Amino acid sequence: MIFSSRINRKSTPAAVKKVVFDEMAISTRVEELASEISRDYKGRDPIVAGILQGALVFTRDLVKNLSFPVSPDFIRISRYGRQSRTGEVEIVKDLQEDIQGRHVLLIEDIVDTGLTLNYLVRILLERNPASLAICTLLDRTELRLAEVPIKYVGFNVNDEFLIGYGLDYREYYRDLPFVATMNLEVVEPRTADRRQQTTDNRQQTEDDRQ
Ligand code: PRP
Repeated sequence: MIFSSRINRKSTPAAVKKVVFDEMAISTRVEELASEISRDYKGRDPIVAGILQGALVFTRDLVKNLSFPVSPDFIRISRYGRQSRTGEVEIVKDLQEDIQGRHVLLIEDIVDTGLTLNYLVRILLERNPASLAICTLLDRTELRLAEVPIKYVGFNVNDEFLIGYGLDYREYYRDLPFVATMNLEVVEPRTADRRQQTTDNRQQTEDDRQ
């Protein structure tokens, strides 16, 4: 299993405030995007590249619905601090494929400021692909600071914290089958347990000292 589930998938975790896009809405939109992409890239043998971790689930589902066979490639980047205004990233896992002269479709889960993609696109364009386009499941234009050439958008979203379908909160909740807003005040139960345990241990140590 790619994402280890730290929550009970049979019940909705307390962190879920409101489901914004349910499984049905997502799969319908993914199918629509896939037919658009299938039409545009027919006979062009594109490289479809997901940006890890967030876009893994979306990339997998999108590729399954394309009308031509394609094995998705993946790239993983590390950002130099979330507050950075440059969007500078380091590639920690590069694409397997050489993109020179190839049509590249980058897949994202969400674009916020656009800084990450803007930087990544500049790196990839130096490799001289035949073309480079972006498909994102979610687009949060309110937060945009850098221009990014997004060609395919699943849904536009506002500035609310979202989890599920690849989107995480401290690596949790990526495996939820829907996209939801989050109760940020809900502490993930295991973290709470650990905190409680630490407090208990501390108390025990103090008791032992007395
Ligand atoms: C998210 C998302 C984008 C980036 C968008 O990744 O997947 O890559 O943030 O932010 P920006 O438009 O403001 O640059 P994140 O760093 O959360 O990593 P993840 O994909 O591993 O969840």
